[in-house]
Amino acid sequence: MPESTNQHRYPIHAIHAGIGLSVFKNASEASQVVATEIATLVRERASAGKPCVLGLATGSTPMGVYRELIRMHRDENLSLRNVVTFNLDEYFPMAPDAAQSYVRFMNENLFDHVDVLSENVHIPDGTIAEESVGKFCDDYESKIAAAGGIDLQLLGIGRTGHIGFNEPRSDADTVTRMVVLNSVTRNDAAENFDGLENVPHHAVTMGVQTILNAQRIRLMAYGEHKSAIVERTVCGDITESIPATFLQQHGDVRFLMDDAAASKLNLSNTSK
Ligand code: GLP
Repeated sequence: MPESTNQHRYPIHAIHAGIGLSVFKNASEASQVVATEIATLVRERASAGKPCVLGLATGSTPMGVYRELIRMHRDENLSLRNVVTFNLDEYFPMAPDAAQSYVRFMNENLFDHVDVLSENVHIPDGTIAEESVGKFCDDYESKIAAAGGIDLQLLGIGRTGHIGFNEPRSDADTVTRMVVLNSVTRNDAAENFDGLENVPHHAVTMGVQTILNAQRIRLMAYGEHKSAIVERTVCGDITESIPATFLQQHGDVRFLMDDAAASKLNLSNTSK
C-alpha cells in the first residue's frame, strides 16, 4: 500500500471488551502518542505543584517512549523532577550492573538522560537475600500507596499473556511478589542471556492487582509475534491462564499497537 494511503488510514481507534484499541502506522508513532500523554500529565501535575507517579516497563517495546521522553527533556524543556517511578519487575537473582538487569536497562534507556531524582526511582531489587524478598515486596506496595498510587502504568505483553512477570495462573488479587518464570518467557529471554541455561528461573514482579490499581494503563504491542496474544487478551474470556485478560476489568486501559500486532483483531466489528 502506498505511504499516502496509509496516512489517511491511521490511527484506527476502537473499543472492545472495555479495552481502548489504537492502531498506528508504526511503533514510533504509537510511542510518540504515549510519550506525549505522559509529558502532558507530568506538566499538569508540575503546574499544580504535585508529583506524577509512573509505573514503568522494560523490554524492547517501551524503548521508543523513553527515547521520545529524553528528546522532549532535551528539546522541549520537559522536566521529570516531579516524577516518581515504580518499575514493574526484575529478574531474581540479578546484579544491577549485569547486562540483563532492568536497573541497568532503565538507567541506560531513560534515567541517565533526564532529571528524574534518584530517590524517586523504585525498581524491584534482584540482589536481596531470598528470605527478605517477602518484606521487600510488602514495602514496595507500601511505597506505591504512600506515593498516592500509580497515575499511569506502561505495559508490554509477553507471549504467555503475562503483564510484568505475572505468568499464567496469576490471579487478579496478586500483589508484588516473587514468581517462577514460565518456560516460554525464559525461552524468549534466552538470546539476551546468551543461552537458556543462564536465564533466571525467578523474578520479582508487581502483581495483577498492583497493576489494575493504576489510574490509567497503556499497553503497547508491536510485531506479528504479539498478534495471537493480543487477540486472546482482547477477545477471550477473562481468565488467570492469560493474566492480561484482567485488563478488561480496568476502566481506563488502552492498547497501542502497530498493524502487525493488531492483525488478528477484526477492528471493524469491535463495539462498546
Ligand atoms: C519481559 C518483561 C515484560 C515485557 C515482556 C515483553 O517479560 N518482564 O514486562 O512486557 O518482556 O518484552 P518485549 O517488549 O521485549 O517484547
